[in-house]
This record gives sequence, C-alpha cells and structure tokens, in this order.
Amino acid sequence: MRRQIRGGRILDPFSGREEKADLLIEDGRIAAVGELPLEPCESVFDASGLVIAPGLVDVHVHFRDPGLTYKEDIETGALAAAAGGFTTVVCMANTKPAADCPEILEYVLKKGAGTGIRVLSCGAVTRGLKGQELTDMEALYRAGAAGFTDDGIPILDERILRQAMEEAARLDVPLSLHEEDPALIENNGINRGRVSRKLGIGGSPCEAEIRLVERDCRLALETGARVNIQHISTAGAVEAVRRAKSLGARVTAEASPHHFSLTEEAVLEYGTLAKMNPPLRTEADRRAVIRGLQDGTIDLIATDHAPHSAEEKGRPLTEAPSGIIGLETALALGITNLVEPGYISLMELMEKMSRNPARLYGLTYRGIAAGSPADLVIFDENEIWTAGEPLSKSSNSPFLGHRLKGRVRCTICGGEIVYKA
Ligand code: DOR
Repeated sequence: MRRQIRGGRILDPFSGREEKADLLIEDGRIAAVGELPLEPCESVFDASGLVIAPGLVDVHVHFRDPGLTYKEDIETGALAAAAGGFTTVVCMANTKPAADCPEILEYVLKKGAGTGIRVLSCGAVTRGLKGQELTDMEALYRAGAAGFTDDGIPILDERILRQAMEEAARLDVPLSLHEEDPALIENNGINRGRVSRKLGIGGSPCEAEIRLVERDCRLALETGARVNIQHISTAGAVEAVRRAKSLGARVTAEASPHHFSLTEEAVLEYGTLAKMNPPLRTEADRRAVIRGLQDGTIDLIATDHAPHSAEEKGRPLTEAPSGIIGLETALALGITNLVEPGYISLMELMEKMSRNPARLYGLTYRGIAAGSPADLVIFDENEIWTAGEPLSKSSNSPFLGHRLKGRVRCTICGGEIVYKA
C-alpha cells in the first residue's frame, strides 16, 4: 500500500525537524520525506494547513479489560485513543483480575494486537495489587510487560517497594507509582482545602502525595531504578522531583491534562466528573505543574484515561469512583491550556506527548524519518471545536461541551488510517 500525505507542516520532536514537507508511506513505513513529486498511489491526503507529528504515546490508560468491560474494553479504548491521535498506549494493571500473571498480560497484548494501534501493558508490581507480595516481575517482563505499576493504589510497604525497584533496575524497566498516602486521606478524589471544607468532606491533602513522592525519590536514588511518578498534582511533589533529578535520581514525572487545566473549584461545577485520584488542586499547584512542564521536571503528559459508567458517576460525591476519560481531549487541552497561553511551544508539547513517553518505555519508535513505522497524527492546531460524544464506552469527562483549540483530523498507525474526522 502506497500513500502520500502532501503539503503538511512536519513537527517532529525526535529530530527537531519543523518544515513543510510531503510524506510517502510504503508498506507501513515512512519511505520518503521532503518535496516529493505527486506519484500515482492508492491514497493521497491533502494536509495543507495541518500539522503532521509522530503518533502520540500515552503511558497511562485504563482499558478495563478483562473484567470491567461495561466501562471500556480494549477495542473501544483503542478507538478512543486513535480519535485522540494516539498510536501507542500503555495499559495499567488494575483490571479484574489484575495483570499480575503472564496469562492476563498475554490476553491484553493479544487483544490489543488486533486493534490497529499499539497496545502495550504494564504488569502489576504486587500480587492482586495488595501491596504485600511481589509478582514474578521477570516472568511478566518475559511475557511482554512494558513496565510495572500498581496504579490506582500506592505501595505503602517500603521493603516491598525497595525490592520492586531493585528488580525493575535489574530488568531495566520503568516502575510507575501512584503517590497518595491513605493514612492522611479522609475522602479521596477531592483536594483537602477550600472546596472540601465548603462541602463538609475531609478530602485528600497535598501532604498525602508529597510524603510518598519524597520517599520514592529517595528510594530511586538509592536503588538506581527508573521511577516514574504518575499524575503529579502538587507544587511540593514537583519540587521533590526537581530536587531528586538534580541529585541524579533516574526519576521521571507525568502530568495529566486535567491537572494542568482545572483546579479544585471544578468540583463545585462538575461534581463527580471532577473527582479523581490524585485530586484537582489549587491554582498555585496547577501553576507549579505547568512550571514543571516548562523546565523539564515533568517529562511527559499522560491522560490517566479512567472510564466509569454513568450509573457509577451518578452516585454521591463521596461514593462515586475517581477518574475521568482523557484520550479524546488530551491534545486539544495541551494546545488550549499550555500552547495557546504561551507556556510551552507546540514542539515542546509534542516532546511530552510522543518523544519522552516513547523513550521512557524504551520504544524503538524514532519519529518522522525514512524507514520509521508510519505512526502519525495529523491535526489542525487552530481549529476550534466542541468536545462531543466520545468514542470511549464511557463519557465521564468534565470537558464535554467545552470549546477547545486543536483538532485531530487523522491518525495513522503502521501506515493504516485508524481514525479520520
Ligand atoms: O482517578 C483515578 N482513577 N486515578 C487512578 O489512579 C486510577 C483510576 C481508575 O482506575 O479509575
């Protein structure tokens, strides 16, 4: 299959290349980049006025498969990913049962292989995500685990976590950590502060995150493990990561679009659709996350795409599950809330949404270059659109109905069109 994409603006964070060029795709790979003659081929895509960038990589999604497929499954999750411009995703291990043994992991990878995009998965760090006994990380690694995480649940036992870090360091894979100390939390999903006081619920204080991030930065330094701090939300935790990096720890951090877009005030407007772990914080925290993105303390943007049913999100605030979907609005939120106000450039946004996450997970993917797999997102950076009905099975997002800037027009994975607006 030969395909040409003509007249777009290439924005490739892998090479730093930013120029108007045509692309020729052949047999799933990029065959040529540059000013190319119009040749007869099966498909010609006119990309004039559009940006062509490497397919986005999201290292933090919940596809709920197996076990919770009324919320999402691997196929609908992949459709949502493709609609958001993502060509590679990394699933979290908190399925039912958890991905704590090779059989579950193999199920996810096998089903993922039939979706058209690249679906990877982490293995669980502890059996049943119970925090008490390590999984056979080596067996999971051999079965294809891209990394390890108990995401959704923090690992409290320092002895277990140290062992996990030592094993992750030996296997040279990232260990991704959910950082919230439940000992300090009264009701999770809502920041302890002005809004929780107003609603008369306890909430989750900043210290719950900061305490564990400080501990784990220290352990990362001691063990040499590649530790990834997930969905960082507080100024104090950003500072802890900054310090750890300056001391030489192999620590990375991710920010979720909701944490750089909204504050705790959103809970008053959107109720359970603004409930997530860790919670939305204050404006000072939001700005600290943005500063972290600007100075490289925060390496990547990851959605924490966390589908829940309308019935579940319809429960009272203290009873509804935490989390929101994010794949289909992530790029637009980055453009609207980071690029448009001038905090980072569009190239820097691409670094945090494709290059850095690909590097974290050791993907061989090398962006837009001859010979590379043709994994691409084509988008209009200026188009204003209203976020509507998602392709995800769930629609738990506070951003539906919002006017956003930047719209995905087409996603190509392995040379095949997996989404077209
Ligand atoms: O809000 C969240 N929901 N945060 C997490 O880390 C897990 C996720 C889920 O699985 O629903």
